[in-house]
Amino acid sequence: MATIQLSGVSKRYGDHPPVVRSVDLDIGHHEFCVFLGPSGCGKSTLLRMIAGLEELSEGELRIGSRVVTDVPAAQRGVAMVFQSYALFPHMTVFENIAFGLKIAKLPKAEIERRVRDAASSLQLEALLDRHPKALSGGQRQRVAIGRAIVREPGVFLFDEPLSNLDAALRSHTRVEIARLHQRFADASVVYVTHDQVEAMTLADRIVLLHAGADMERHGSVAQSGAPLDLYHHPKSRFVAGFIGSPRMNFMDATVDAVDEDGVRVTLAQGGESILACVEGRGLQRGQPVTLGVRPEHLRLGGDDQSIACATVLAERLGEHSYLHADHAAGTLVAKAPADSPIGVGERLRVHVPPQACHLFDAEGVARRRLALAPVPA
Ligand SMILES: Nc1ncnc2c1ncn2[C@@H]1O[C@H](COP(=O)(O)OP(=O)(O)O)[C@@H](O)[C@H]1O
Ligand SMILES: [Mg+2]
Repeated sequence: MATIQLSGVSKRYGDHPPVVRSVDLDIGHHEFCVFLGPSGCGKSTLLRMIAGLEELSEGELRIGSRVVTDVPAAQRGVAMVFQSYALFPHMTVFENIAFGLKIAKLPKAEIERRVRDAASSLQLEALLDRHPKALSGGQRQRVAIGRAIVREPGVFLFDEPLSNLDAALRSHTRVEIARLHQRFADASVVYVTHDQVEAMTLADRIVLLHAGADMERHGSVAQSGAPLDLYHHPKSRFVAGFIGSPRMNFMDATVDAVDEDGVRVTLAQGGESILACVEGRGLQRGQPVTLGVRPEHLRLGGDDQSIACATVLAERLGEHSYLHADHAAGTLVAKAPADSPIGVGERLRVHVPPQACHLFDAEGVARRRLALAPVPA
């Protein structure tokens, strides 16, 4: 059983503030866990600690039932794939894939069988005699993955394996990685990326790490959960702003009234009154808050739950359009139909569905949402 448990894991370099802060995590058998977050938030450091390439400053790490905090990398039963591929230039594809097995002194026939199996599942059979310099970026990355597969590890660790590939190849290889995970029923995967689309599509669970000006939280877990849980129920403004593309709209507002339907707020400057279906206990009239609503949940059209704005940009993507519109409380992005006739400079009203509203207090903590029913499409 390749479960991975982290308890109170921290990492600091010298006297600097920790780059990974008190991480507690329980990664299940066969789980695909993605560490996500902006550059510098500590994702690679956390992964390298699991791999055994970096020592823990504090805490304990278990793989399966074994405490491996002080176990050398080679004895942890993990295989890691790096962004840089790290292939040996003077060896053929076959030799690169077989390298770890030769070192482990496996019988020749067994090495041959495992390399051929991996090559077949990664479509590398025709390339086994080539050297890395005669391969494309995508083929090199597949060789690096093959080298991990043949070791039949309990845990696969990936550090941004797709970031050196162009867009088309990236989505193709992403699908391959998802299929590999399905095939290896016994293996768990920990995968690092800063790309939320990769995280949303691959993960059983996303662990989003904090970064940014708030040094008290830098390198700690902002939220951990299923991708759609983070999307629908972000616990903080940081999570809400990181998950979702285009990003959630944020508007400055003040609390106006609290009742059982939710919280009524008044938007800064524009003065419109908007109802948000969120838990209001403890909120005081006049308290500053941030109203959040995703571009895909805004509707064009005016009523008493709408705000007035002026279009400054229309992005037409073919399948749909994104209208960027200025409001005194901030610039909004609204998803609109592909053939929406609205052009730049036009004034419009957008309806803000109460069940689609998020509300954050001055510290960025989210209020619990009252509407458990999904937001209407
Ligand atoms: N060997 C090191 N010495 C000092 N600081 C380091 C070292 N390795 C990483 N860091 C710092 O730790 C932070 C997290 O780095 P990293 O884990 O690579 O982030 P990510 O992978 O999320 O981009 C960064 O601020 C980085 O500068
Ligand atoms: Mg990194």
